Amino acid sequence: MGSAFQQALDADGEEWQAVSRSDVDIYSRSALRDRIRSSGATFLINCAGFTGKPNVDACEVHKSDTLMGNAVLPGILREVCEDEDLPWGQVSSGCIYTGRRQDGKGFKEDDPPNFSFRSPPCSFYSGTKALGEEVLEGAENCFVWRLRIPFDHVDGPRNYLSKLMRYERLLEAENSISHLGEFVKACLDCHRKEIPYGVYNVTNPGAVTTSMVVQWIQEELKIDRPFDFFESEESFMISAAQTPRSNCVLDTNKLQDVGIQLTSVEDAIRTSLQTGDWSESLGSK
Ligand SMILES: NC(=O)c1ccc[n+]([C@@H]2O[C@H](COP(=O)([O-])OP(=O)(O)OC[C@H]3O[C@@H](n4cnc5c(N)ncnc54)[C@H](OP(=O)(O)O)[C@@H]3O)[C@@H](O)[C@H]2O)c1
Repeated sequence: MGSAFQQALDADGEEWQAVSRSDVDIYSRSALRDRIRSSGATFLINCAGFTGKPNVDACEVHKSDTLMGNAVLPGILREVCEDEDLPWGQVSSGCIYTGRRQDGKGFKEDDPPNFSFRSPPCSFYSGTKALGEEVLEGAENCFVWRLRIPFDHVDGPRNYLSKLMRYERLLEAENSISHLGEFVKACLDCHRKEIPYGVYNVTNPGAVTTSMVVQWIQEELKIDRPFDFFESEESFMISAAQTPRSNCVLDTNKLQDVGIQLTSVEDAIRTSLQTGDWSESLGSK
């Protein structure tokens, strides 16, 4: 995510400085404060977080890193940014929810997480992301941007579309998802357009199922290769995962109501498929 923000800022001719934990002890309030003051920054974007490699199952093992990166760090940044009166944004996640609301609609920003330590079961990763939002409740001058399952036209191991082409078997699930470039632009627009601070679901409007996306892949890339699916979530859990995954639908009206519009999820996926070079992922099977 940090690289995606850097590329977007470069494209817009905006100055930025990247700070990583190898440069500064970001858990030290005084070190962070000094670094912010010497930078002259007018806005801070936190892209740091512990996501687990190769996937969130690793967070079940690396619990202290997961807690520190996802729950403690946002709290420290809040304190320092409030002391310095520095506006900022936290890259959060929609993975604190599972499914849809009971009324069948997508989750709104103020719906309490239902895939969290307070509403188990959840993965350790999602539990810490929900805690990270909890420590930011009521934060001054702070955006909380919820990202979900990033994708774009660039073939690669972190791209959702590439993953669908590369995995041996797929899990059928319904999700709201985020076009990476549109996510970053929307976040930067929150600051540039001076919209009210707070939590925003930053996903493309609508929701997709895995089989819908597979169908669009077959149509747009004109391939008839079969895609295999797990018979059920239980068989996925037995053979491919250690911890449950969040699959959820988010409501995006709050962002649209402040004038920030992402393209519909189908259009964003089809355009990404049409403009990308997918030969590496297609060749991997
Ligand atoms: N990618 C997704 O699918 C996705 C979806 C929703 C939300 N998010 C959120 O987006 C943010 C960025 O994710 P990403 O995909 O860009 O992850 P990433 O490629 O793994 O990058 C994470 C960054 O956070 C730093 N970091 C990791 N653990 C840390 C810790 N304990 N303390 C401080 N810094 C730490 C890493 O620093 P080093 O380089 O020093 O290791 C790295 O620079 C995370 O908050 C993640 O939860 C991601």
